[in-house]
Amino acid sequence: MKKYSYKKSNELFERAVEVIPNGIYGHFSPAPLVPVSAYPFYIESAEGSHFTDVDGNEFIDYMCGYGPMVAGYKNKTIDKAVFEQYQKVDTVTGAPEVMVDLAEEMVKTISIADWAFFAKNGNDVTSYALMAAREHTQRKKIIRLKGGYHGVHPWTQSPDHPGIIFDDAKNIILGKWNDIDDLKRIIKEHKNEIAGLISTPYHHPIFFDNEMPHEGYWQEVEKICRKEGIVLIIDEVRTGFRIDERGANETFGFKPDLICFSKAMANGYPISALVGTNEIKSSVSKVFYTGSFWFSAVPMVASLETIKYLKANKGVEKMHDYGKKMEKGLVDLANKYGYDLKVSGHPAMPFYRITDDPTTKLHQQWCAECTLRGAYFTSHHNWFVSTAHSEKDLKLTLEIADDAFNALKKNN
Ligand SMILES: Cc1ncc(COP(=O)(O)O)c(C=O)c1O
Repeated sequence: MKKYSYKKSNELFERAVEVIPNGIYGHFSPAPLVPVSAYPFYIESAEGSHFTDVDGNEFIDYMCGYGPMVAGYKNKTIDKAVFEQYQKVDTVTGAPEVMVDLAEEMVKTISIADWAFFAKNGNDVTSYALMAAREHTQRKKIIRLKGGYHGVHPWTQSPDHPGIIFDDAKNIILGKWNDIDDLKRIIKEHKNEIAGLISTPYHHPIFFDNEMPHEGYWQEVEKICRKEGIVLIIDEVRTGFRIDERGANETFGFKPDLICFSKAMANGYPISALVGTNEIKSSVSKVFYTGSFWFSAVPMVASLETIKYLKANKGVEKMHDYGKKMEKGLVDLANKYGYDLKVSGHPAMPFYRITDDPTTKLHQQWCAECTLRGAYFTSHHNWFVSTAHSEKDLKLTLEIADDAFNALKKNN
């Protein structure tokens, strides 16, 4: 198979570092893409489950924009409604009509939701959830779990990160995933001080295997939070609308007070949402929170259409099935070449790791060889599947992976 090269991407990056700090920053930074020479940096176009970079290389996209794309780039159904709204109005001096429709759709779809509040980024709503929990309980402290990611606002970062001061995390307590004893210990040490517990519905850290909740874990957490008056906040910014459109808590059998959504809720258009129960609604109403672009209508239409599209097309089941088939295909191929490919997390956003080399060098090489042949795989982050991934994509992905394993074997 012919391998890709990235002349124009690299030229653009050289220009970028002169005028943009780090050239490309944040989660799109090339830093974790090892070896970096295997990855394109700049994208020209995208359609369905594929994107094409500025050098004309086409990829099957297994990162889906790191989550937002869920129903295919340029999805005709969603984009038809988006363009119609765009012709009418987007950001204007007042709230758009569709805001009410979207809130009603979310209340209808998400089992715990009695109301919905809209913002732009995931971190907007994880931070708002904290403020709401503090107002509701009149307490200061928040438990978050080690390895969990909730954005970049100072409270979410480690106090030793550049630009962060220890006071930013003064009222944040770090707990451990899947560890009820640890939770009980924290609560005992901070009796009547904890406002909220924020966690993803399952543990999906980067660089490490992902972990599902132990049997009974969430039921016990819910019971403890109710007893102690702690607001239970679930961060579904990454899992939302991929695991269960009613909320991943339905899959795991528990009821949080607040859920944060963003990424996949609008198929790539910028919007986030906090949903919650009536018990906490009046506290939420008291907390002032807004943004210049939070009332723009186009992303709201995109979200309304995305949610309807996923429900009408059994999107969650489709992504689950694709993820399962891909898992079987890739694991079988790994075995053929004598490698152990471990898969963790949910099939719609799996984390893969070749376990034969604890330094992850082998795994990095294999992901790079796949990317160089057109299946965009990262080695440090969970991948994402969309409803646009097809049988044809799967067949080509497995051919690419086969060739990449072959190259790996020859080079090691
Ligand atoms: C679980 C989780 N929470 C919160 C965020 C922050 O979202 P945003 O980057 O849109 O602020 C992310 C982003 O990746 C995430 O994965």
